[in-house]
Amino acid sequence: MCMNKTYGILAHPVAHSLSPQMQSAAFVERGIDAQFLRFDVQPADLANFLSRVRAEHINGLAVSLPHKEAIIPLLDEITQTARKIGAVNTVFWKENSLMGDNTDAEGFMRAVMEHTAWSREHARSVAVIGAGGAARAIIFALKEKGYEVTIFNRTVSTAKKLAEEFHAFSQPLEGFLAREFSLVVNSTSVGLQTDVSPVSVSSWDGFSGTAFDAIFDPIKTRFLQDAESAGGKIVTGENMLLFQGVRQFQIWTGLSAPEDVMRKTVNNNM
Ligand SMILES: NC(=O)c1ccc[n+]([C@@H]2O[C@H](COP(=O)([O-])OP(=O)(O)OC[C@H]3O[C@@H](n4cnc5c(N)ncnc54)[C@H](OP(=O)(O)O)[C@@H]3O)[C@@H](O)[C@H]2O)c1
Repeated sequence: MCMNKTYGILAHPVAHSLSPQMQSAAFVERGIDAQFLRFDVQPADLANFLSRVRAEHINGLAVSLPHKEAIIPLLDEITQTARKIGAVNTVFWKENSLMGDNTDAEGFMRAVMEHTAWSREHARSVAVIGAGGAARAIIFALKEKGYEVTIFNRTVSTAKKLAEEFHAFSQPLEGFLAREFSLVVNSTSVGLQTDVSPVSVSSWDGFSGTAFDAIFDPIKTRFLQDAESAGGKIVTGENMLLFQGVRQFQIWTGLSAPEDVMRKTVNNNM
């Protein structure tokens, strides 16, 4: 069957991505004649792949590791959001220009706002554990909304640099105490497919706020289990995946995204 439009996820490796299922279900629901492919591209082949995107006029890309930063100089223009975050997770066409945007920040914000009453809670102080790519989007989103952010990272110099860039604070990971914050975010890769947390179980003592983990495999990470046992509310990482994908669908199609269908598809494929 020949599809009218072609979109895809660009990553390496790409097999684990849930974007194809989620976006394909959304296309079907909205009656759009489009396919959503997996493009497994090695870093050395990225420039060639972008030439193919231009030659074949591939309609849009979701971009994941390890290409989110490297793709920037290969595009015609990026949005202010993508520039400030320093990473692109969405490629789309604006007339004849290949554009880059970043929907991770919005995905994170909707995930925590819509699943807890956190934003209406007393304190506006947030701890972000980690200082990598996911942290950049999350910290950007929080600072845009005026929250006070403290970054805790294994490598202190990276946290310091990020804190300077985003007007946040930084502290060594060993000094982390959850009860000092209304929202605690894990943006490290610690806990992915393993039962470990980047912070000790005792650091949750007295916690009554909200904890969010960007990891969604497993859904309820050790980090979230410890936060919940201490008395906190939790928001799981597939919500961020969903909402960043919702925004991507809107950017690519100009239509509202069928969120319920996309959520069901994500949940059914976890
Ligand atoms: N839910 C979503 O939609 C979504 C979106 C984006 C990313 N994610 C997830 O977020 C996670 C992080 O992604 P990323 O792109 O930010 O990765 P990244 O750029 O490689 O950053 C990794 C971070 O984890 C820290 N880290 C790694 N191993 C550690 C260890 N053993 N102990 C303490 N800290 C450690 C690193 O600290 P150092 O600086 O000390 O190395 C760094 O801060 C991934 O699991 C990814 O799947 C989820």
